[in-house]
Amino acid sequence: MTGTKILLTGASGKLGRETLDILLSSGKPAHEIIATTRNVSNLADYAAKGVIVRQADFNAPETLSEAFAGADRIAIISTDAIDPGSDRVKQHAAAAEAAKLAGASHLIYTSLPDPEGSRISFAPDHLGSEKAVIGSGLSYTILRNSWYQENLLMSLPQAFAQGVWATSAGNGRQSFIAHEDCARALAAALLSNSTENAIYTLNDGESHTVEEIAAMASAIVGKPLEVSHISEDALRAGLTDAGLPPFVVDLSVSADENVRTGGFDIINDDFETLTGQKPQTLRSFFEANRAAF
Ligand SMILES: NC(=O)c1ccc[n+]([C@@H]2O[C@H](COP(=O)([O-])OP(=O)(O)OC[C@H]3O[C@@H](n4cnc5c(N)ncnc54)[C@H](OP(=O)(O)O)[C@@H]3O)[C@@H](O)[C@H]2O)c1
Repeated sequence: MTGTKILLTGASGKLGRETLDILLSSGKPAHEIIATTRNVSNLADYAAKGVIVRQADFNAPETLSEAFAGADRIAIISTDAIDPGSDRVKQHAAAAEAAKLAGASHLIYTSLPDPEGSRISFAPDHLGSEKAVIGSGLSYTILRNSWYQENLLMSLPQAFAQGVWATSAGNGRQSFIAHEDCARALAAALLSNSTENAIYTLNDGESHTVEEIAAMASAIVGKPLEVSHISEDALRAGLTDAGLPPFVVDLSVSADENVRTGGFDIINDDFETLTGQKPQTLRSFFEANRAAF
């Protein structure tokens, strides 16, 4: 929609930058896009393109009214503050409140699938944040992003190096979503003029067991990859012995638990409904990233 200003928080992160690129290539004038970040120098390249860059830190709510001024639709990218001591609900609630006070008409928030039932360690953060967004009284679009396909770039290279993928996910099935598709969805929600309340659970339209993922990856990458089913306790012990911080161990163990219990086995066409495009498949992800494995 031309003429109205849209705003994206956390714009210097990976999702933020990809979304800005899609917004700019959509024809939305740069001077109608407000990008906020904790450190404006990180977005100097977008300021040079005419994007309005402002400082906003959810831990400093006093910065937010000035940062959000004049924005019609505001997208809150959930922060990465999952370490102990951080309070994401407080952060996102401050942003939602500031959006309301700034006179925005519509709020968008990036969440995770089924925050009520999810076993993911930080699901309560998203549940509380969704409630804050809904409680703001603004109309809202909630984008429940599935596990990024790109998360496999962190775990699978090590598994390929050892030839073994140790998992406690059992025979659970999991869908994913490409990071770029999350950006497409965010851009679509920002560019829409709908003020209907909506919740989209975004996924790549198919779900796989660990065995199926390993077989697909192995065939495409051209290296062997066996699956070793281990207990949750054994997974926890292995990750702890590898020196990972306890909250990362909790996250990894809970991710497998969520797969095992069916929490990631969600397939729908929400992505296509929102964007009008087909999501990128897991197969195309492996084909595009063969060299990384
Ligand atoms: N679905 C999944 O599998 C998955 C995986 C990883 C992460 N996520 C979630 O998706 C979000 C975006 O992913 P990403 O790949 O773009 O992650 P990323 O590059 O690590 O970005 C982290 C984001 O957090 C923002 N942030 C951190 N502290 C903040 C604060 N105090 N106030 C305002 N913003 C703050 C950053 O904004 P600035 O640096 O610009 O201030 C940035 O947008 C993550 O933050 C996380 O909540 C989902």
